[in-house]
Amino acid sequence: MIDFNLTPGKVEWQSPSNIALVKYWGKHGRQLPSNPSISFTLSQAHTTTSVAYKKAENKNSSAQVDFKFEGEEKPDFKEKIVRYLNSISEELPLVHELDFVIESQNSFPHSSGIASSASSMSALALCLLSIHNNLYDNKALDIQKASHLARLGSGSASRSVYGPLAIWGDTDVSTLSSNKYAIPYMDSIDSVFNSFYDDILIISKNEKAVSSRAGHALMENNPYALNRFEQAHRHMGEIVAAMQAGDLEKFGAIVEKEALTLHALMMASEPPYMLMEPNTIAAIRVLQEFRKEKSVPVYFTLDAGPNIHMLYPSSAAAQVAALKEELKNYCQDRLIINDKVGSGPIQMI
Ligand code: PMV
Repeated sequence: MIDFNLTPGKVEWQSPSNIALVKYWGKHGRQLPSNPSISFTLSQAHTTTSVAYKKAENKNSSAQVDFKFEGEEKPDFKEKIVRYLNSISEELPLVHELDFVIESQNSFPHSSGIASSASSMSALALCLLSIHNNLYDNKALDIQKASHLARLGSGSASRSVYGPLAIWGDTDVSTLSSNKYAIPYMDSIDSVFNSFYDDILIISKNEKAVSSRAGHALMENNPYALNRFEQAHRHMGEIVAAMQAGDLEKFGAIVEKEALTLHALMMASEPPYMLMEPNTIAAIRVLQEFRKEKSVPVYFTLDAGPNIHMLYPSSAAAQVAALKEELKNYCQDRLIINDKVGSGPIQMI
């Protein structure tokens, strides 16, 4: 039992989502990535999580949590949080010493088909580490440790603690890189990438038929896995070189290849599955045609789902507006979420 005179307290963090440019797909051991990844941190799509804590009467064998998501109890989310807290008790013994009241909300519409594990797990990890610091009177928050803890909740969450660009996983691109935590990466990156836009086209709000967790697991027996991991290593070097040179065309070509490769890997899994919808492909075709005709640097990427992230520099925003209007026809309820590259989490309390 921690020996402290504990007055109850509360912390709160707002943490953003991120979009991978080179994708993490496949893991091993304790949430270690099979290949490195790089992502833009977003700014508008974020989760705000508060954690109130007080000393538990007795040491808990399982974390004691009251949880509400947007004011409502969500037993499935709560179960995930309790499982996560129990799993990090070695890193943070306080999870068994305290009682927690956790409240969380997303900035993006609930059930919009946008995955929130990166923003929610990074917000929670930051809260837990802040509590650790409050109790042990540490000085500055160790953001690398926050990334490590976030990774144990959701791999991609490790990247959300930094903006605007983060790398997770061992890669030749940086000697500082690690499989255990993400690092911020801005070494000589052209300033055009500081103000990139990401419009998220909500093709479908439906929950995915195959979760990311199951998708990662299916990489274990995917016959193309080893080639894929090598390709991702190669793409890391290529995309960083393109971003340093400000070469948008090269950047876009890699990003789009990564998105289609991710979905090809799903289609080549055992059992195979597809997460793209007919409108995903139709909208991609419209985007590519627009790019070719108008010579506008606008590119797409995909998460593990049907929705499209449309990436372009702020200087192209006026031209892309017409494309966006047209692409609304392919979106459920004509929904597009306007986002852009951001600078990382904010501590609110
Ligand atoms: O962090 P997870 O387990 O939700 O996996 C994320 C996987 C992708 O979003 C498809 C790629 C990535 O690197 O974010």
